Order: sequence, then structure tokens, then C-alpha cells
Amino acid sequence: MNTANHIHFYNLHPTLADFKAEVCHGLSVYPKTIPPKFFYDQSGSQLFDDITELPEYYPTRTEIGILHEHGEEMARLLGKGCWLWELGSGSSKKIRVLLDSLQPSTYLPIDISKEHLLHSVQTLAIDHPDLEIHAICADYSSDFQLPRGCIPTQTSGNEINRVAFFPGSSIGNFEPSQAQELLQRVAHLLRPTGALLIGVDLKKDPACLHVAYNDAQGVTAAFNLNLLTRINRELQADFNLTQFEHQAFYNDQLGRIEMHLVSKTSQEVQVDGQRFVFAEGENIHTENSYKYTVEQFHAIATRANFEPVRVWTDPARLFSVHYLRVKS
Ligand code: AVI
Repeated sequence: MNTANHIHFYNLHPTLADFKAEVCHGLSVYPKTIPPKFFYDQSGSQLFDDITELPEYYPTRTEIGILHEHGEEMARLLGKGCWLWELGSGSSKKIRVLLDSLQPSTYLPIDISKEHLLHSVQTLAIDHPDLEIHAICADYSSDFQLPRGCIPTQTSGNEINRVAFFPGSSIGNFEPSQAQELLQRVAHLLRPTGALLIGVDLKKDPACLHVAYNDAQGVTAAFNLNLLTRINRELQADFNLTQFEHQAFYNDQLGRIEMHLVSKTSQEVQVDGQRFVFAEGENIHTENSYKYTVEQFHAIATRANFEPVRVWTDPARLFSVHYLRVKS
């Protein structure tokens, strides 16, 4: 579908049936779990954008600082005229820092949140009228096939430079084994000579992590609880939002922030006609956000067929941006 002369839009969005199946399965196992990808309906995406502006939430501004500081060098390494896929593009704010120096021939943002994706690419297209954009609404954590037109056609002896940009430490929202599998799929897309630029949040003082996920204004709590509002609206459920509360803490042993929704009382909830029982204090586990050392992340990337070439951090070593090349 063409939304403007140089924006192509592909809708591979997970269906309502997928959403229902994953939620009902997640509520019937112990501990109850709902994958974080379902946070991102229209309000969830807006709430996440609000989180990125919070004084306590350091990752976004720190990563943008690194991109500003080292963007020219990144662009030199990545090379001009590439095909540039962005995983979890959201508001496409970060790629804007690199676009002028990188000058990709084609930009292919992939995001699960349809309205957010459409709005971001339409705004981006105004500022970059010559950029060819293929916007793909999809769950990049699944093993989905990119549509025709979203992979460069090979012309012999003239290999198009392939680059993937995966900012925001969204890789931290996957179990390390799933992160490796996802990176393996990205490596496959980028073969034989492509590169990955990826933002990864670093291990740090747990107190700094605690406040980043328990902000004073309660935006992270609203983001977490919005998942229940979404389930109520889309799956005809009857979660009482006043009977659940946000919980986030750093699990030192596993090196991750965990987010949960805690049932304040013993209660029953119906989702699409199915009944789910909660004990007082029982949790729905909604998100993990793994924090890595540079070496830990390199180990995962290496197993996923990438060769670490360069890493940039901020002076306080809160966050890292890695340049990795596909191993030939
Ligand atoms: C998108 N992702 C990398 C964020 C994170 O920090 O794990 C999501 C988030 N959850 C709560 N605050 C932000």
C-alpha cells in the first residue's frame, strides 16, 4: 500500500486472535506472564515516549548523546547508500541523529505499533523528502518473513550494503537465549557483508536502575497498567485496575529489571469468557530488562554470528552502542 509517493506500508501486525491466545495462555500458567510486546498499543507507545523524557529514565538521552558524539564515525563505518532496517523504530527519534551523515538509500522501520509507526514515518518523510521508506508493522520478535520489496534484489558484483539499527536496549527485553536467536535472524538478513548498530544498556548501581523503573510521576506504573486497559478493551476482559499495582525491582542474580502487576486482593478476572483466579499478592510478570557488561553482550553477539568491531559508551558508562559485522 502506498501512503505517499515514497512511503510503502506493509501490515504484518499480530492478529487479535494471536493476542488473545498469548494472553489466555500467559494467565493460565504459573507464574502468570504476558509478553512485553503487548504494551505497545497507541496509548502504550505514547506512554513509552513519555518514559523516555523522564529525568529518572537515563537510557534514551544517554544513547542519543552517544549517537550525537560518535555519529560521524558510525556513518563512516556503516557506509553511505545502505538499506537500513530499524527494529522497534517507535518514534524514529534516534535514527534522525544519523540520517544526514549516513544517507541510506532505503529506510525500513519495523514496529509492532501501527498508528505510531505510520505517524512517525509520515513526519520523517516531510523532513527527508528524498528518502525511500518501507514501513513494516510487524512483531520483529517472531520469525516473520520480510515482504518482497523489503530485501534488496541481488545484482551480481554489486552488493548493496545492509545495515540493521536496533537501538534503545530493546534486546534487553528478551531472555539471553532468545536475544541470541533474534540476533542470528538479523545476521541472516544482513549476510554476507552487513553490519548491526545496536544499543545495549549496561550493568550499573541497582539504585540508579530502581528509580529508572519506579519514577516519581508514576508514568512507568501507568505504562505497566495500560496493558490491563488494553486487554479489557480488545479482549472484553474485566480487570479492575484499582486492584492491581505496578512493581519493578532489580534482580541482581539474573542481572535484570523485572516488572510485574501485583494483585492487591484475591480476585477473579474474565478474559473473553475465560475465568482466571488471582491470589492476594500474585503477580503477572510483564517485562524483563536485562543489563549487560560489554563482554557479556559480545559473547551473545559472537554466538549469533557477529564480530564485535567497535563499542562506544558515555563517560559514566551507563549505556553502550555496538558496531558489529556479520561474520563471513
Ligand atoms: C523498550 N525497553 C527497552 C524499555 C526498557 O527499559 O526495558 C521498556 C521500559 N519498560 C519500563 N520502562 C521502559
